[in-house]
Amino acid sequence: MIRKAVIPAAGFGTRFLPLTKAQPKEMLPIVDTPTIQMVVEEAVDSGITDILMVIGKSKRAIEEHFDRNFELEQELEQKGKEDLLRQIRHISGMANIHFVWQKELNGLGDAVSYARSHVGNEPFALLLGDTILESYSDEPVTRQLINVFNQHGGSVVALEEVPQEKVSRYGIMDGEDVGDGVYRVRDFVEKPDPAVAPSNLAFAGRYVFSPDIFDFLIQTGRGKNNEIQLTDAMRTMAQSRPMFGCRFSGKRHDVGNKFDFVKTNIHYALKHPEMKDPLISYLKELVKTL
Ligand code: UTP
Repeated sequence: MIRKAVIPAAGFGTRFLPLTKAQPKEMLPIVDTPTIQMVVEEAVDSGITDILMVIGKSKRAIEEHFDRNFELEQELEQKGKEDLLRQIRHISGMANIHFVWQKELNGLGDAVSYARSHVGNEPFALLLGDTILESYSDEPVTRQLINVFNQHGGSVVALEEVPQEKVSRYGIMDGEDVGDGVYRVRDFVEKPDPAVAPSNLAFAGRYVFSPDIFDFLIQTGRGKNNEIQLTDAMRTMAQSRPMFGCRFSGKRHDVGNKFDFVKTNIHYALKHPEMKDPLISYLKELVKTL
């Protein structure tokens, strides 16, 4: 049973400056909900009960968001705002949430290695704190990965199909289709030329790892951007351990880049019962003025 998850959220967020100078991009709202809350909800709905967040400087808002706020609760209680009170209490009661501080920002692989002593000798899920995965099935994407882990017994990475001409923007999987959206991974290629790309299946920010990933991370030297890259550790791991890709049913929203952030907000606002119709009218009017 997989009960622990790790959420890295320490990165500088340089693609979102100046906002990220003093505020975490993981707290960027999707209409009214911080991105990282949606990530935690996905983990919890997938059966996770224990979450370790890797944070750093300028990330205090994340800690406070998952803590209780007694004064606010009292205020909502006195004013009879029960629905809001329930929503606020739900945030701090969802799971056991722990924090660890990444001392120097040496990349995603380095951030994950801070989870070693907390995770111990158990398999765990890894969810990027700035990426929302919307599921098109009854099961959240992390649950879909856990199912593949339980069935095939090896680490699993979420894969999203991307248009062939855009493969050069992503980490792409090289592997063999073993049926039902599952691939046996041979290797990964960073940003390949579309003409020679081994597939059009890209990393999507969700993983399930067996604990030996930590041994491979220790052996991984600095790679691209002089950072410790999780992909490099996974490439070495795939040479000696079974590793699988899961083409999940759903859509990835990378909130860490500005255009996708705006698109994601429009996407979710159009699903919002009170906002949908006024937003459509507003956008139609706006387009006429262009
Ligand atoms: P990104 O590569 O999107 O984060 O990492 P970044 O480095 O903050 O982004 P840019 O390129 O500067 O805009 C994906 C996730 O991994 C975390 C980030 O916080 C994000 O949630 N991360 C990244 C860490 O926790 N530590 C790191 O050293 C790097």
